[in-house]
Amino acid sequence: MSDSKNISLEDRFQEKIDNNIQIEPKDWMPEGYRKTLIRQISQHAHSEIVGMLPEGNWISRAPSLRRKMGLLAKVQDEAGHGLYLYGAAETLGADRASLIDDLHSGKAKYSSIFNYPTLTWADIGAIGWLVDGAAIMNQVPLCSCSYGPYARAMVRVCKEESFHQRQGFEIMMALCNGSPEQKELAQDALNRWWWPSLMMFGPNDSESKHSAQSMKWKIKRFSNDELRQRFVDMSVPQAKILGITIPDADLKWNEETKQHDYGKIDWEEFWNVVKGNGPCNKQRLKTRNKAHDQGKWVREAATAYAEKRRQRNANRAKTA
Ligand code: 3HC
Repeated sequence: MSDSKNISLEDRFQEKIDNNIQIEPKDWMPEGYRKTLIRQISQHAHSEIVGMLPEGNWISRAPSLRRKMGLLAKVQDEAGHGLYLYGAAETLGADRASLIDDLHSGKAKYSSIFNYPTLTWADIGAIGWLVDGAAIMNQVPLCSCSYGPYARAMVRVCKEESFHQRQGFEIMMALCNGSPEQKELAQDALNRWWWPSLMMFGPNDSESKHSAQSMKWKIKRFSNDELRQRFVDMSVPQAKILGITIPDADLKWNEETKQHDYGKIDWEEFWNVVKGNGPCNKQRLKTRNKAHDQGKWVREAATAYAEKRRQRNANRAKTA
């Protein structure tokens, strides 16, 4: 690290980043770094919370007690991921209640993928296999993100995501080894979830307005397209093992690049969904607002209890 007195705070900060020194809440940081992290971490948290809805829809209709237990555990994990991430955003000075208001008012973004409907049980398998698989591809690099609390939250999240992905793939395997009708359900789910899963990684690098800066600050360790490509290359052999076909006529192995070439993503669909016009955007926000309103009494009771405990501890300290 340069020892000269006159390097700017920004340069000293960037030197820490370049030397892989993790940034902690009490460290000086450029306002833009803080803002980008609050933006990304809050959207990530919102995605975890809204992501509970498509799957929660099938808890009461799971085909067996075992499947119900696995899905219940997964949905509960997602709630926990959301709470860790809201906590990580608070270490940057964000106010949790305002972040949640922004979600409920439709002002805040969350991952586009959660605006698609879960029409059959096979969708639960496809979500675990593909959506959680994509989430892992995107979240493992975040375990070495430059901001300490975010990176540490991701370590635990990724451990739980691996269980989510495995239970999803197992559901798909059971269907693909089942009756022809069950295999058809799995193929139908793959047809509907494949392209929205590729969209999870964000716009092409050339269209990504945040990537360059986020990579300079080592918030993002790989670009949107790099992670998307890895996801495609990982999923192709998995689909082969399942015996179902990825719905992309242009998907083929490129001996030169040692990667799979794939077809064009429908970015018009992507931006339409991001803008709130996806199949389930309105329903998701309505459900979230209803749950938040119905949970008001729980929040009030918890706050009252915490206040009572605080007063009791303060009185005890006075008389001790
Ligand atoms: N859905 C909604 N909005 C998206 C999006 C998506 N799939 N991809 C990109 N966007 C938005 C960005 O938020 C940004 O909008 P903003 O300026 O209003 O915030 C705009 O499109 C431009 O995109 P960029 O690529 O420039 O934005 P980022 O650098 O933030 O990259 C990202 C997008 C790759 C999603 C990045 O934010 C990221 O890695 N986030 C953390 C991981 C995450 O949030 N994953 C979401 C799924 S969580 C999940 O799947 C849970 C699992 O348990 C199922």
